[in-house]
Amino acid sequence: MTNGTKYFIGNWKMFGIPSSFKIITQINRFINKDKRRYKVIIAPPLSLLQDFTKKLRNKRVMISAQNCYQKDNFGAYTGNVSPFMIKKLGVRYIIIGHSENRASGETNKIIEEKVKIALKNNFTVILCIGENKIEKRKKQTINVLKKQLNSVLKKKLSQKKLIIAYEPIWSIGTGKLPNKRDLINTTIKIRATLSKIFNKNIPPVLYGGSVDSETIYSFKDIGIIDGFLIGGASKSSKNFIDIIKNFYK
Ligand code: PGA
Repeated sequence: MTNGTKYFIGNWKMFGIPSSFKIITQINRFINKDKRRYKVIIAPPLSLLQDFTKKLRNKRVMISAQNCYQKDNFGAYTGNVSPFMIKKLGVRYIIIGHSENRASGETNKIIEEKVKIALKNNFTVILCIGENKIEKRKKQTINVLKKQLNSVLKKKLSQKKLIIAYEPIWSIGTGKLPNKRDLINTTIKIRATLSKIFNKNIPPVLYGGSVDSETIYSFKDIGIIDGFLIGGASKSSKNFIDIIKNFYK
């Protein structure tokens, strides 16, 4: 079963300038006073990673990158940044395979490369998977998710350095949530697929898609979900803190 530590991960996407650090300061102030066992990770854009990582040394909030290029070290890849380069900024987490990146051409093969290189650089990878509306309607959800997992994850990879985020694409930014029974079923299937790859010790499985301070109530009693990947609502410290407060209320 789950190890009990919940994750609240904020994905800022294309949002944030240096002064946006005040959002993180406020989140940090809240969680420092809170004794509960959960992890908070914020993924600001690449442009802020170094500044924020330096400011957060020895703080409870951790910083994640939102993506990386599928080649390591240095190379002739204009506009791209390798896992090695991000690691050197002091960042330890990285989101890979977000549906917005998949939509702009990232295939399972590219994502497999990224994950491999990120793990080689000792990152903890937050791997996003999810079906679109048509796949859901055609009842292909489980097959799509299995393919996304099996084509990227291999037994030899360290499951301790992985976090899986199940994000139905039709739920991202739409306010639409999966119904509880479907979500539980899908999470069970994801966990079963992960068990086949890694045997008993599987990585945490999070949910993402329209999580905010109100919708969080619907997830409170779904124990097999290890936490949340939060987009829109992570751009405000109040919303983000309220998600945590209401989850534990
Ligand atoms: P949302 O985004 O919370 O705004 O729906 C989630 C995500 O894209 O990770």
